[in-house]
Amino acid sequence: MNKLIVANWKLNPLTLKEAEGLAEKINQVSPHEVVLCPPIAFLPLVKYLHLGAQDVSPQVKGAYTGQISASHLSSLGVKYCIVGHSERRTMGERDELINQKLQALLHFKITPILCVGYGTAVSQDELEVTDVLGSQLTADLEDIDPKKVIVAYEPVWAIGSGRPATPEHAEQIALYITTKFGVKSVLYGGSVNSTNSESFLSQHHVGGLLVGGASLLPDDFNKIIG
Ligand code: 13P
Repeated sequence: MNKLIVANWKLNPLTLKEAEGLAEKINQVSPHEVVLCPPIAFLPLVKYLHLGAQDVSPQVKGAYTGQISASHLSSLGVKYCIVGHSERRTMGERDELINQKLQALLHFKITPILCVGYGTAVSQDELEVTDVLGSQLTADLEDIDPKKVIVAYEPVWAIGSGRPATPEHAEQIALYITTKFGVKSVLYGGSVNSTNSESFLSQHHVGGLLVGGASLLPDDFNKIIG
């Protein structure tokens, strides 16, 4: 079944040459829809069918030095944008700001990939996790059409730790988010690699993957996207 696989390159690689080289090595053909999210400075220069941004400004235009507008992304042909990643929430990004970013993206018909899972702990049971996610999603999605939003469930303890959630846990959470909030689909992210990717992709309610570290390794990433 066709799923969505998103590569979040974060603050990597360091040069345009490396970024172009990395994109060239990623297979263009996959049974899934594959989106590369390079650093914003490389976004107009990296060649790949589907590209996404890692963040956006809540404002569209005006005196906001250093910001990137949803209008800028739209004029580059960007189709997706990650919002509310836990690495940004750690820097102080709050739900109200995330909500404004979602509004800006939807106004320009860019599909947001809304990350939730910040504040979860490895020891929490499913009920406690859904409590945390429920309040994030309720605030983030206020006055937003959920059918236009993709959610990525990334338990904060699984990010970059080499300790992924179990596919069964990801499935339970994806089912909860889809049923309760009616979003377009739910991705899983957190220590996904070429060995475990299929076990997540085979879950019925997991609509795809948000991949960090392994997306910088072309051989691994090509195995993930099949
Ligand atoms: P890793 O795949 O490196 O754990 O990162 C996940 C992530 O944060 C993707 O947005």
